[in-house]
Formats: sequence, C-alpha cells, structure tokens
Amino acid sequence: MYDQAEALRNLIRNNERLRTGRGTRILTVTSGKGGVGKSNFSLNFALALQKLGKTVLVFDADIGMANLDVLMGHNATYSIYHLLKQDKTIWDIIQLGPQGLHFVAGGSGMNELLQLSDAQLNKFIDQLDNLQGKYDYLLFDTGAGLSKEAASLIAAAHETIVVTTPEPTAITDAYALMKMVRSFGHEPTFRLVVNRAMDAREGQQTADKIAMAARKFMGIEVPLLGIIADDPNVSRAVRQQTPFTIAYPASDATKGIQSIARAYLDMPALREATSGGIKGFLHKMVRLMK
Ligand SMILES: Nc1ncnc2c1ncn2[C@@H]1O[C@H](COP(=O)(O)OP(=O)(O)OP(=O)(O)O)[C@@H](O)[C@H]1O
Ligand SMILES: [Mg+2]
Repeated sequence: MYDQAEALRNLIRNNERLRTGRGTRILTVTSGKGGVGKSNFSLNFALALQKLGKTVLVFDADIGMANLDVLMGHNATYSIYHLLKQDKTIWDIIQLGPQGLHFVAGGSGMNELLQLSDAQLNKFIDQLDNLQGKYDYLLFDTGAGLSKEAASLIAAAHETIVVTTPEPTAITDAYALMKMVRSFGHEPTFRLVVNRAMDAREGQQTADKIAMAARKFMGIEVPLLGIIADDPNVSRAVRQQTPFTIAYPASDATKGIQSIARAYLDMPALREATSGGIKGFLHKMVRLMK
C-alpha cells in the first residue's frame, strides 16, 4: 500500500540527493517574552530556506500551546505524542505543510519525554536518528520563557535564534533568557532577530542594546541576523491561516525573512554539526533535562 509513510520515505530519499550541506544542523528558535513572533518566524524562515535550496524539518516544540499547524491551516493527524506513546514511527508523524514543508506537530509531547522508560526513550532517540543526513536543518520552534525542557533543547542545539521586538520588556527578557541558558553551563551559539521594528534604525538600536549587554556582562557575541518590519500583513496572514511569505510575497515582512535566510546561510557556522549528530544532540538534551 502506498501510504503517507511510504510517500514520505520517497520524498526524503530525494532530499538525500538534494541535500547540499554537511551534517544536519539543529536549530532552535526561542524568546524570553511570549508573543514576539517566534512561530511566524520559524514557519516563514523554514519556507525561505527551502526556497534557497535547503531541506528543513520544523518541529513544534511549544509544550503549552502548540499552534504551528494552525498557522498553516493544517490539521495535524499525529504529533510527537504518537511517536512516544503509540506505535508510530518518525515517518508516520511527519506532516506535509504548504509548499511541501515537512513538519512535526506539537502537543504535550515534549514533557512526556521526562516520564518515559529507558526503552521508550531509546526508541524515541533511534527514531529521530533516522533523520540524520536526511535534512539540512531540524528547526525547533520552542515556547516562550524558560522551562527546563526548552533550556535543555537550546543548550544541546547547534545554534539558537533569539527573537525579540524593540519593546524594552522583550529586550530585557531576551537578555535574561540567554543568561539563563548559559547558567546551564553550556556555551550556546545565539543569533538575534528583531521582529516588529518600526524602521531599520529602531531594529538596529534594539540589536545594539542586546549585543552590548551580552558582550559586557556575558562576554559573548550575539550577531544580528536581521530585522523584520512591523507589518499588518502578518496578522492578516495569521487570520487566513496561510504563512505570510506565501499570502503576501511582496510584503515588507517577507522581504525581511528573505534577507534573514540569506544572511543565515552566509554566516559561518560557529558550532560544527558533526560529532554525535542527531543522537549526540538528543542524548545531551535528555541528560540536561533530567
Ligand atoms: N512582523 C510582525 N508585524 C506585525 N505583527 C506581527 C509580526 N510578527 C508577529 N506579529 C503578531 O504577533 C502575533 C503572535 O505571533 P506568534 O504566534 O508568531 O508569536 P510567538 O512568539 O510564537 O508566540 P508564543 O510565545 O505564544 O508562542 C501574530 O499573530 C501577529 O498578530
Ligand atoms: Mg509560538
């Protein structure tokens, strides 16, 4: 029978031929304050990377309020939960979104990880390990704030994109989040995206504030990936349940995303996506979570 799992395996076999980069990179998108635009960013950034020839699998890792599927107008049949608690494979739970985007829907999956037996946990790790080399990027859209699960995910990832708006509360929360992740004793690689900027100047000033504080008080560099304009088309697209880069391809927000995707691919990778691969990442994450 030619079912969804078989169709996906075929698609992914093609991915393997198309893949351009080295190892599969694991990328998290997070913020200190909620509602700053992480999910919209994750979805549209993944679509923009695909346009530039990269293969991306997006994970909705927001524990409390998973909603990536809602943003795509796609009713997800399966989520991480089905992999953990029922007998589904990774190929069963990958969903096909707009423009052929592959994604895994959220739900209560992530905190279920804490209550798994070792055998279940190993099954989970083995299943995700099947993705090794099949995608250029695994992108995790996390919830806001800092749960232990999210912090473990961020600390284990190759890099983390921190999304903030120019609002002072969002800026201080972004800074606090980076500080907290570092207190886990790890050296995460942060990149910054300023969303909802009135203009380029406001976006740059926001980035400068964060970069300066990070340099002075944490001794780390937080390079700016780019700025996305405050654009009413984003909210319009959300109401239409269509990613804004698809619904409004000529909008300011879309232009921002496109230039961020290009900047991201141009930036040298600070942490190599080699040793341990997906398995190494997951073992590290689980260790930190416990
Ligand atoms: N560039 C933008 N211009 C205008 N409005 C925006 C922009 N980005 C996001 N928004 C608005 O902010 C809302 C929240 O966005 P989104 O759901 O992506 O945030 P989030 O950070 O994922 O939230 P949560 O913390 O709850 O997961 C959107 O529904 C939209 O109305
Ligand atoms: Mg979100």
